[in-house]
Amino acid sequence: MHLPDLNEARKRTNQEVLEKEVDYNFSKAFLNKKYFLRTYGCQMNMHDSEEIRKYLELLGFTETSVLEDSDLVVLNTCAIRENAHEKVFGYLGRCKHLKREKPELIIAIGGCMSQEEGVTKEIKEKHPYVDIVFGTHNISELPKLLLEKKAEQKKQDIEVYSMEGDIYENIQYSRDSKITAWVNIMYGCDKFCTYCIVPYTRGKQRSRRLENIIKEVEELKKAGYKEVTLLGQNVNAYGKDLEEGYDFKDLLERVAKTGIERVRFVTSHPWDFTEEMIDVIAKYDNIMPYIHLPLQSGSDRILKLMGRRYTKAEYLKLFQSIKEKIPNVAITTDIIVGFPNETEEDFLETLDVVNTCQFDSAFTFIYSPREGTPASKIKDNVTIEEKEERLQRLNELVNHYSLEKNKRLEGSIVPVLILGENEKDKNKVYGYTDTMKLINITEGHDLIGKIVPVKVTEAKSFSLDGEIVK
Ligand code: SAH
Ligand code: SF4
Ligand code: F3S
Repeated sequence: MHLPDLNEARKRTNQEVLEKEVDYNFSKAFLNKKYFLRTYGCQMNMHDSEEIRKYLELLGFTETSVLEDSDLVVLNTCAIRENAHEKVFGYLGRCKHLKREKPELIIAIGGCMSQEEGVTKEIKEKHPYVDIVFGTHNISELPKLLLEKKAEQKKQDIEVYSMEGDIYENIQYSRDSKITAWVNIMYGCDKFCTYCIVPYTRGKQRSRRLENIIKEVEELKKAGYKEVTLLGQNVNAYGKDLEEGYDFKDLLERVAKTGIERVRFVTSHPWDFTEEMIDVIAKYDNIMPYIHLPLQSGSDRILKLMGRRYTKAEYLKLFQSIKEKIPNVAITTDIIVGFPNETEEDFLETLDVVNTCQFDSAFTFIYSPREGTPASKIKDNVTIEEKEERLQRLNELVNHYSLEKNKRLEGSIVPVLILGENEKDKNKVYGYTDTMKLINITEGHDLIGKIVPVKVTEAKSFSLDGEIVK
């Protein structure tokens, strides 16, 4: 039993990060058993689920998409906002009910919620039917925990470490796609934006060494992958924790030089975004002209309270520079409304940035206090009605520009990586443009996995329709 501790999670030590190897030497003890895996949260969690899936397959499990058919349920959770919690505890209710009918069912919870002191305590005290809780730092221990569960019939086992782990360089993934792949370039986050829980749930920033990342990209390319997305909470800070002296621009350039057809990266933090990085993105055709550049707020006062370390003017300057240097670039963003003390004037500053930047799209959120973060201690004097009203006004403006941006593409020809059949309409396929816009295409089933020119026939707020140019 190992419970997470908030004070431990807050610490940043100089302890050396080691490269280790996962031990894949375990038995297929769960042959003929089925697992059901549900993933919440960001790309990082989705990628972690690809690691989890591999362990489960190696243990002998096969996947089911029907909860009721499963012998093992794994919930890979997210802690970013309160509603993420509610969703998971809601779902746990269903699992609890199922376990009453099927007592041998194993319930395992991993991900960022497991890393929260309060959540783990709650599971320990109020949800005894949960068998295994594991954290973001010890995903590779899941096989061991499952085998122990099987052997000892232990009741509940909670194994969550607050201090970040070392870096494993031999992780195997059961990837969702054979065309596009995620590649972790760094773990954790040291930014400590005052509202955000990620630095506590994911630990200190640990960059992977450049040669290991390049090796992974080369292997993916050899295996036929067309696109890699480099993952990190703020990729622009890549390498700052290493003594090697290289940074994100160097990494990007090396990844581009592998010749893989498409290179993407998320998420960019404006603070560490240098002109040299923009130059590299502009220089290589296989680095896609798409940047997710979270704004959070347009008000200098609120940005300061959020600990974002840039001003509205600095954000706009960076935005303009990206627009000028990278032709055809699409820029999307994240915005939080209703941060404590946000006034109507502050909010208007945010709208002003949206009007200036005219983002291709934006994820918008109502501020959600997270236990243990500095912002959660600020008295929140914005009423829920005000927050909701601001969110609605913001969404209207954001959607207006999304549609307008997409409309401009009507009639034009865009390069699309075709990913698969459209789930709702089997006559169509879907893919993404270089600028990361979802496009549904009539026919083209024989072109899955290829990058082809597509004519945009109709633009909507959140997607495009198109046809293959023959
Ligand atoms: N590392 C990324 C963001 C990861 S979290 C970055 O720094 O940009 C994704 C988004 O969730 C954030 O950009 C922010 O807009 C939102 N978010 C994070 N914490 C939140 C909170 N406590 N309440 C509401 N939204 C939050
Ligand atoms: Fe959270 Fe800020 Fe780190 Fe992004 S940069 S994960 S918002 S603390
Ligand atoms: Fe959620 Fe953790 Fe990602 S809190 S957004 S799953 S890093």
